[in-house]
Amino acid sequence: MGRTPFIAGNWKMFKTIPEAVSFVRALKSSLTGLSGVEVAVCPPFTALAPVAEILRGSGIAVGAQDVFWEERGAYTGEVSPLMLKDAGCSCVIIGHSERRQFFGESDEKVNRKVKAALACGLTPIMCVGETLVQRENGITEKVVGEQTEAGLSGLSPEQAAGVVIAYEPVWAIGTGKTASDEDAQQVIAFIRRLVNDLYGFGTAERIRIQYGGSVKPGNAAGLLARPDIDGALVGGASLEIESFVGIIRAAAPGI
Ligand code: PGA
Repeated sequence: MGRTPFIAGNWKMFKTIPEAVSFVRALKSSLTGLSGVEVAVCPPFTALAPVAEILRGSGIAVGAQDVFWEERGAYTGEVSPLMLKDAGCSCVIIGHSERRQFFGESDEKVNRKVKAALACGLTPIMCVGETLVQRENGITEKVVGEQTEAGLSGLSPEQAAGVVIAYEPVWAIGTGKTASDEDAQQVIAFIRRLVNDLYGFGTAERIRIQYGGSVKPGNAAGLLARPDIDGALVGGASLEIESFVGIIRAAAPGI
């Protein structure tokens, strides 16, 4: 299979520039000799450029937490894919459930953002996931399937293979409740089967699908050992060096 595990830290609206800078200096020295795993940090917009400057050449990637789909123009408050590249980003989180919940992010907007990111050479980390009510009503696969299909709509098989999907059950985000290894594996295997149906075997074999939602050093190894779980999108535990590095070590024990 040969999919490299990918651990990304979603800092959300935390850390000032000085805090971000000192964090990534420490992270860089904890992760010398990084191999067998890809790592990214996703700070707030304000800290992207200084963080990228420090991490240049370290093998640790930098991502943003959102992006707009136009390259430039009269769109007050928005940031374009080109600007993210300019700031040193190589990836971007798109369609996080907090954006879907608080900022009106629809599947259609997610799709436009995914396309714009790919067109600019940024790797989209496209988030999908069901709420607790949806899980209890037995419609997890329907919800996640629709989000996945709509988010990837119009991509070529080659482009789709370059997207990273983050399966994040909304009820597991920031709550301390993790999906069981088996539940996460089941939904992620379902997503991979769907990608297979939509884009073919080659794309399904290559596309990386992360799990996200209360990932910690203590539960990371079990999740990552599952055959279809290719990494983690980590919120709270990515804000402290010890816990973030602990999760990265679970993905690549040699570090
Ligand atoms: P959490 O957040 O790890 O704090 O649950 C995950 C996320 O929102 O990406």
